[in-house]
Parts: sequence; C-alpha cells; structure tokens
Amino acid sequence: MEKKLKVGLKTLFGTLPNIERYLHFAVLFWVLLQLLSSGLMHVHGDTELNQISDLAFIHIYSGLVLLPVSLIFATKVIMRRKIQDLYPWLSGHYQVIKEDAESLLKLELPEAKPSGLAATIEGLGILALILAVVTGSVWYLTVFTSGPSEWLLSIHKLSVTFIQVYFFGHALFALLHLVQWWRESSTS
Ligand code: HEM
Ligand code: HEM
Repeated sequence: MEKKLKVGLKTLFGTLPNIERYLHFAVLFWVLLQLLSSGLMHVHGDTELNQISDLAFIHIYSGLVLLPVSLIFATKVIMRRKIQDLYPWLSGHYQVIKEDAESLLKLELPEAKPSGLAATIEGLGILALILAVVTGSVWYLTVFTSGPSEWLLSIHKLSVTFIQVYFFGHALFALLHLVQWWRESSTS
C-alpha cells in the first residue's frame, strides 16, 4: 500500500521536469507556511515597523524570499509550456476549455492538455502566486520607506484570497487524479 502510494505520487508529479518538481515542492510548502503564519500575526493598517512582532516577521521575511523563488518557478513553467498553453483566453481560444468543462459536467475528469481547463487554472494559479508575493512585498517596502499604509495592506489581504482558493482547489484536483489512478491501476 505504501509502495503503491509512492508510485502514485511519482506518476502524479511525473509531468514536471526535475528542477520544476523541486521548485513546485518549495512553493507548495512555502505558501502553506505563509497561510499558517498569517493566522498568528496582528499587523494593522496603522502598525509602525517597530511595533511588528517577531512572529509576524517570519511571514514577512519568508514572503520576501518567496518572491524570487516564485518568479523563477513561474518563468520556468511558462517558458516550457508557452503562453498559448497556459493563457489561451489571451488570444480568445476557448474551444479546449469548453470541451473539458463538458467532460466535467458528465462527471468525467478531463485529461490535462494544452490550452485546456487544467492548464488555464494552473496559469491563473501562477498569477495568483505572483500577486500575493508582489502585493506583500510592495506593502513592506512602503512601510519600510515611508510608514504604514492601510490601503496597501488591504490590497494584500484581498489578493491572497485567490492563492488560498487556488491552493485548496488545485490540491483537491490532484487528490482526485490520485484516486482515479489508484482505481485504474487496481482494475488493470
Ligand atoms: C505567497 C505569499 C503570501 C501569502 C500566501 C500570504 C498570505 C497571507 C494571508 C492569508 C494573510 C491574512 C489575510 C487576512 O487576514 O485577511 C496575510 C496577511 C498579511 N501578510 Fe501575507 N502572504 C504572502 C506574502 C506576504 C509578503 C511577501 C508580505 C510582506 C513582505 C506579507 C505581509 C503580510 C501582512 C503584514 C499581513 C497582515 C497580517 C495580519 O492580519 O495581522 N505577506 N498574508
Ligand atoms: C500555491 C501553491 C501551488 C502552486 C502555485 C502550484 C502550481 C502548479 C503549476 C503551475 C503546475 C503546472 C506545472 C506544469 O505542469 O507545467 C502544477 C502542477 C501540479 N501541482 Fe501544483 N501548485 C501548488 C500547490 C500544489 C498542491 C498543494 C498540490 C497537491 C498536493 C499540488 C499538486 C500538483 C500536481 C500533482 C501537479 C502535476 C500535475 C498537473 O500538472 O496537474 N500543487 N502546480
């Protein structure tokens, strides 16, 4: 059972080249750390830099380091998969997304394919990740250079909603694919 789970996970993440697989794991655990640490901090729009607790600085500094890691991950994935694959809506290509949505309506998990629903959602996930790290970093840079900014903190808090939704939605689909692989390999 343990061995089968290992094979399943290897197959699931097998679509990613080695370097991107490591970067993906780093981003996955880092974002989880950001989500967990955000619940332990008390920074408000009018909080001065010297009032920020050490615990909050874990979220802040680890978020700042996540910025270059996210940019490298995003660049690697986009360069390999190309803009048309991850962002078909930019050029008005909705055909494959439509076909995948129809499969989902029939309760069938569509195969991941270029310009499809999974690819589009992954493309949006990359944007959500960049939005979260950039808005957090811009807020910090502003507090550091010119003092508290209620407005920028609200923008960060609103922006992170997208990465939260993506994180759990994308994980759920990964789990469903694992269950599907498990069933198919038990019957074959
Ligand atoms: C992917 C990266 C990040 C994620 C997933 C993330 C996630 C979150 C979440 C979920 C919250 C709570 C939102 C709420 O209370 O409504 C939050 C708040 C916050 N984040 Fe981030 N964050 C990230 C990056 C950053 C960065 C780079 C900085 C600064 C350099 C930062 C600074 C803050 C601050 C100051 C708060 C307010 C905390 C509070 O409510 O007391 N975050 N973040
Ligand atoms: C915020 C965190 C995450 C981001 C930004 C992210 C982003 C991505 C992206 C862009 C891809 C596509 C790479 C490619 O095929 O070229 C991918 C693939 C994958 N992700 Fe994530 N991911 C995150 C978290 C997770 C989590 C929590 C899981 C589940 C435990 C997961 C499971 C997978 C799997 C299995 C694949 C490979 C299969 C596929 O392409 O769907 N990811 N991820």
